[in-house]
This record gives sequence, C-alpha cells and structure tokens, in this order.
Amino acid sequence: MENNMRSADMKRINTPELAQAFIDEQVNAVRAQVGDKKVLLALSGGVDSSVVAALLIKAIGKQLVCVHVNHGLMRKGESEQVIEVFQNQMDANLIYVDATDRFLDLLAGVDEPERKRKIIGGEFIKVFEEEARKLKGIDFLAQGTIYPDILESDGVKAHHNVGGLPDDFDFQLVEPVRLLFKDEVRCVGHALGLPASMVERQPFPGPGLGVRCLGAITRDRLAALRESDAILREEFDAAGLAERVWQFFTVVPDFRSTGVRDGKRAFDWPVIIRAVNTVDAMTATVPEIDWPVLKKITQRILAEVPGVCRVLYDLTPKPVGTIEWE
Ligand code: XMP
Repeated sequence: MENNMRSADMKRINTPELAQAFIDEQVNAVRAQVGDKKVLLALSGGVDSSVVAALLIKAIGKQLVCVHVNHGLMRKGESEQVIEVFQNQMDANLIYVDATDRFLDLLAGVDEPERKRKIIGGEFIKVFEEEARKLKGIDFLAQGTIYPDILESDGVKAHHNVGGLPDDFDFQLVEPVRLLFKDEVRCVGHALGLPASMVERQPFPGPGLGVRCLGAITRDRLAALRESDAILREEFDAAGLAERVWQFFTVVPDFRSTGVRDGKRAFDWPVIIRAVNTVDAMTATVPEIDWPVLKKITQRILAEVPGVCRVLYDLTPKPVGTIEWE
C-alpha cells in the first residue's frame, strides 16, 4: 500500500519553488512506477484531474491516455478548453467523447434529483468503461484523488466515478496529488503552466449543470442555463467579483411565469442567480452585489437568452438553503 498520510515534516506547498520541487519529485516517482507502460486518466477539466494530466504529460508524455467525456452538462466552453489546453497546447494523447445525446436521452423525463445524479454517475462509468475496453495494454489508472478525499471518505473521489469500474480491469493506481490540499494542487497547477481559469476554477458538481437545470432536464432550458451562466461569469469577471465570490452560477427552474415581450404576452422560464461565500461549503453567506452589476446581468440575460422572461437573485444563506438547488 502506498503512503497515504502526510508526514509531520511535509511542507505546505505555497511557493513556485516548492511546487517545482514537488513536480520534479513526482515526475521521477511516476516514471519509476510506470516504466514504459500506459496510463489511463478520466480528464474532466476540473482542477484535480487537469493538474494530474499536466503532471503526467510532463513525466511520461504520450504514455498517458486521457479520456474526456462530455456528458452535455458542462458549462459553456469547458470541453473546448480541455481540447485546446491538453490536445493543442500540450500535445497530449486525448480521446474526446461527445456523449451528450446518450446522457440527455437517458435523463429525459427524470425529475427526481437523486435519480438524476445516479443516472449521470452510472452513465459516466459506462462511457468511460467502453473507451477503456477499446484501448489495449493499459496497466495503470491515474486519478485526481486529493488529501481531503482520503481524510473525508474512503479515498475514492465520489464524483470521479471511475472508482466504480468493473473488477476485471485490475488497474494499478497512479495518484500523484493524493497528499496535497486543494490550495497546493492549485499552486502546482500554476507551476505546470496551466491557465489560471482552469487552476482557479470554482467547485463544479460532478453531475454538472444537471443539478442546476431543475426537474426533468430539457434541451431548451439547458441551453438557457448554459448561456445565462456564461453571462454571469463574464460580468462577475468584468466587475472584479470572480476573485471575491467563492462560487456563483445560475439555476433554471422547471416552471414558467408570464412576461411581456414586444407588446405580446410571453410565458417563459425564470433564471435564478446564486452567489455564495464560504470557507468549507458547510455554511455560506450571500454577498451584497452592487445593484448596477445585478442590473447589467439581468438586462443581458433578458436580451440575450431565448425563453427567459425573469431574473431573480437568491438571498438565502446556508443553512437553511443549500448552495445548489438540487
Ligand atoms: P450544497 O448544495 O450541498 O453544496 O450546499 C456544497 C458544495 O458541494 C458542491 N456539490 C457537489 N460537488 N458533486 C460534487 O462534486 C455533487 O454531486 C455535488 N453537489 C454539490 C456544490 O457545488 C457546493 O460547492
């Protein structure tokens, strides 16, 4: 069993020099572990899997095979960024699977939140398993397990899902950031040259936009969610709020309300803006966003996102409300 506990003298990685020393050490360790064998990685584009991918590309280049499954519930531009950074810039061995239709067809008509989560998690394993079976001669599976995963659970990232692969795969695990805290993973990501927008990414649930498109997911509401979320991100960035607010996103509920557009009656979806500050996501407060910023976001969403006739700001702290709506 590998060492899964931090030793008392392990320094907190918080400078570029310490990050570089960690990278050098892990590059050697991975090469020693893997030799000339191949390693498979499910690359979601989240902070942890992206940092592991960049580290392994540095260590073993094309011996790493990354699989990016687009479940159709990614935010605007996320899958494109994975392809741009890893395939185009880092010349990685990347398999891109657009499984949007598979996921959305399975989710059609399913409105129970836990059932939606299970379908998304289960289908993710299936798609990844299918890709893994097509590849021959892979002995290792890399995972972006980080130290809190080890401390808080059984060491398997719940939302990574690849822990649920069938036994006949018999992969040996490569988990180079398993002893690092999140801020250290970010520090290493910067030192590896990953874009700040990837390394500083806010938490994003494994089931993605699926938990923010409330009730039974439909393609039109999912599109409204993706576009409104992109507008919110753009405007928070422009107002300098992206660094000061811990997590922010939009939610589209599954009910409509009346509106008036071009002198005619409309019956369209609302968009809810959710923004929170927190230390550990167990409790959260709602930041006071300047009125002009909220007004601009509202105007843009109403003008640019089809099928939306109302914008709301969620004032609910956690507790009582959770951060996500589902
Ligand atoms: P809640 O809604 O429970 O969210 O207040 C707390 C934090 O956890 C994130 N979250 C998830 N992350 N898989 C994840 O990886 C999930 O299913 C999931 N659900 C919630 C949420 O975005 C927030 O940061």
